[in-house]
Amino acid sequence: MENVDWLNRVHVGDAREVMATFPNNSIDLSFWSPPYFVGKNYESHLNFQDWKDLLRGVISEHARIMKEGAFMVININDILCFADQNMPRFMANNVSNKKVKISREDILKVKHDYPDADRRTLASIVGCSEQTIQRRLEHNNVRGGKSSAGTKVLTVGGLLQEWAEAVGLYLYDRRIWHKDPCWANSRWHSNSYRAADEFEYLYVFWRTGIVKVDRARLKKNEWAERGSRAVWNIRSIQRNGRHECEFPEMLAERVIRLFTDKDNVILDPFVGSGTTTTIAKRLNRKYVGIDRLKKYAQLAEERTNAE
Ligand SMILES: C[S@@+](CC[C@H](N)C(=O)[O-])C[C@H]1O[C@@H](n2cnc3c(N)ncnc32)[C@H](O)[C@@H]1O
Repeated sequence: MENVDWLNRVHVGDAREVMATFPNNSIDLSFWSPPYFVGKNYESHLNFQDWKDLLRGVISEHARIMKEGAFMVININDILCFADQNMPRFMANNVSNKKVKISREDILKVKHDYPDADRRTLASIVGCSEQTIQRRLEHNNVRGGKSSAGTKVLTVGGLLQEWAEAVGLYLYDRRIWHKDPCWANSRWHSNSYRAADEFEYLYVFWRTGIVKVDRARLKKNEWAERGSRAVWNIRSIQRNGRHECEFPEMLAERVIRLFTDKDNVILDPFVGSGTTTTIAKRLNRKYVGIDRLKKYAQLAEERTNAE
């Protein structure tokens, strides 16, 4: 009889180790968003080599557990501020730069009066952008800010493709998830030639085998609006509540409905708050999630069970 203990649940552990316990040819779709190597709390234990080993390892495990003809969809972004000690620091003569006159001390005073205020609240009390708050308090920001080295953009799509092809998974398609500019909830303006970041990638890898193409999975207008479209417009999650980096339910729903049918098995090896598993359950698919942090595995399990 089929062993189903591993299914319809969220496992705690390193994705590579947990996936190694799953049966061969068992996954119809894997959809995930890994750590991006951009300094989030949940990836602070990784150096660049660890990060590459993690992604390469997880991709390799897929070659065995995916069904023939199945897809693995990875949502990721390039590393926009990759610190490179060898790179000369970019010197700018920024003639349009208007320096914000708010000091770190000004912000610390407000923080003292409102100890529970988050970044957005602090920004609205002080009357500046969230970016200024972060720069003054943490000496850094999402664009790399004051790094001790020069920063460059590091593209990741080619790395994923190289690691996937090494185990027989081929890049079948890629789409753009167009969200909203980061810091859109504040007063973000680029003070350099680097654009405000407002999109991420969806890389679709294929395990060789027969693919079932079924347009009935979507309604006619949905094929026109998204099935055949390379750019998907979906607002990102603006709150920083239960998880630092949730992707929207709509993103998971589109991917799952496009690539799978009822009762298919959906994997998310970096399940975080459980968006993929929750939507899989909502759509009557089977699911399996993994997160190395117990708090997220529990959160994902509870959220999915509540569905
Ligand atoms: C970008 S978040 C995923 C967010 C998720 N898509 C959601 O909607 O909530 C990446 C997750 O991977 C987890 N993670 C990091 N390293 C891991 C590893 N080695 N194995 C499994 N999970 C890992 C982190 O704890 C984090 O929750």
